[in-house]
Amino acid sequence: MKRVLSGIQPTADSFHLGNYLGAVKQWVDLQSDHDAFYCVVDLHALTVETDPEVLRKRTLLAAAQLIALGLDPDKCTLFIQSHVPEHNQLGWVLECLAGFGEANRMTQFKDKSQKSGADRTVVGLFTYPILQAADIMLYQANRVPVGEDQRQHIELTRDLGQRFNSKYGQTFTIPEAHIIKSAAKINDLQDPNAKMSKSSASSSGVIDILDSAEVNAKKIKSAVTDAGKEVKFDEKEKPGISNLLTIHSALSNRAISDIESEFAGKGYGDFKSAVAEVVTSYFAPVKKRTEELLSDEAHLLKILEQGRQKARAVAAETLAKTYSALGLVPSSFKDK
Ligand code: TYM
Repeated sequence: MKRVLSGIQPTADSFHLGNYLGAVKQWVDLQSDHDAFYCVVDLHALTVETDPEVLRKRTLLAAAQLIALGLDPDKCTLFIQSHVPEHNQLGWVLECLAGFGEANRMTQFKDKSQKSGADRTVVGLFTYPILQAADIMLYQANRVPVGEDQRQHIELTRDLGQRFNSKYGQTFTIPEAHIIKSAAKINDLQDPNAKMSKSSASSSGVIDILDSAEVNAKKIKSAVTDAGKEVKFDEKEKPGISNLLTIHSALSNRAISDIESEFAGKGYGDFKSAVAEVVTSYFAPVKKRTEELLSDEAHLLKILEQGRQKARAVAAETLAKTYSALGLVPSSFKDK
């Protein structure tokens, strides 16, 4: 079985629709015919200053949402990144292989650091993609299901893996990005040329999957649409309508052409109401299930402990192989 790995940051009180359609939906699909490892990347979340209580809450909330959205802990390995210390250990090794210029070319780093200014940008934000490369290669992953915004980070991972293998001998599997074209970039409802993002200036264009049906229906009904009144997929001329069509199609599992035909001759209003209905009915049970899972923290922690054990076994093996390839002398101390 091919192996997949992916991660998501616990940096919000809910995943948004872009996270789900671009990534998590693919994770759910892949778990049935792949050896799948999925982690809540709490160490990555430290690059954003967060109140400790909030981070703790969001980390468990992220795990609960993943299960509520369809991850089955019996089919995949679900764990918390900081529970497996090999991530940091391999991260350091890869930092010693990555060039400064190479890391400096990462567009996400450039965007985020420009926004906050050099003095307020932490070094962890700079090395963030290298830790991400460690997350992936520690598990010898073949595929990494992510949204389009992560493509450059996966390219960096591949470069680092190839560099290591050619210097020190075959050690890492070189992963491929698994990006589903139709859902790779879900856009902001108020600014349909920009991606939906938790850091967007206003929350009115971002659909948080755990928000109430009323709030989300209102946001969809006030989505920015385009001139004209035809419900037609045309990303250039009609980015707003195209984004809504993408969302409808991904959640209702219907072809875009089929939805276009249904709304032929009808206005944007009817179409938006239908999208609101599809979105809110899809996520209503997810919200309920997330709350149930969170109400039994001991059970949730048990699932994450099972995941940690499975993840650690693979991670420890890769790290030992890596250290040995590098010539680091193994200790004679044996853990009981
Ligand atoms: P994060 O937490 O920002 O986002 C999680 C996933 O959601 C995808 N995504 C989107 N997809 C489509 N349209 C959007 N508008 C949209 N917004 C977000 C992201 O592409 C991502 O797949 N660096 C990663 C976390 C990470 C990781 C890893 C991923 C850490 N280690 C190892 C894969 C493998 C991130 O920032 O995700």
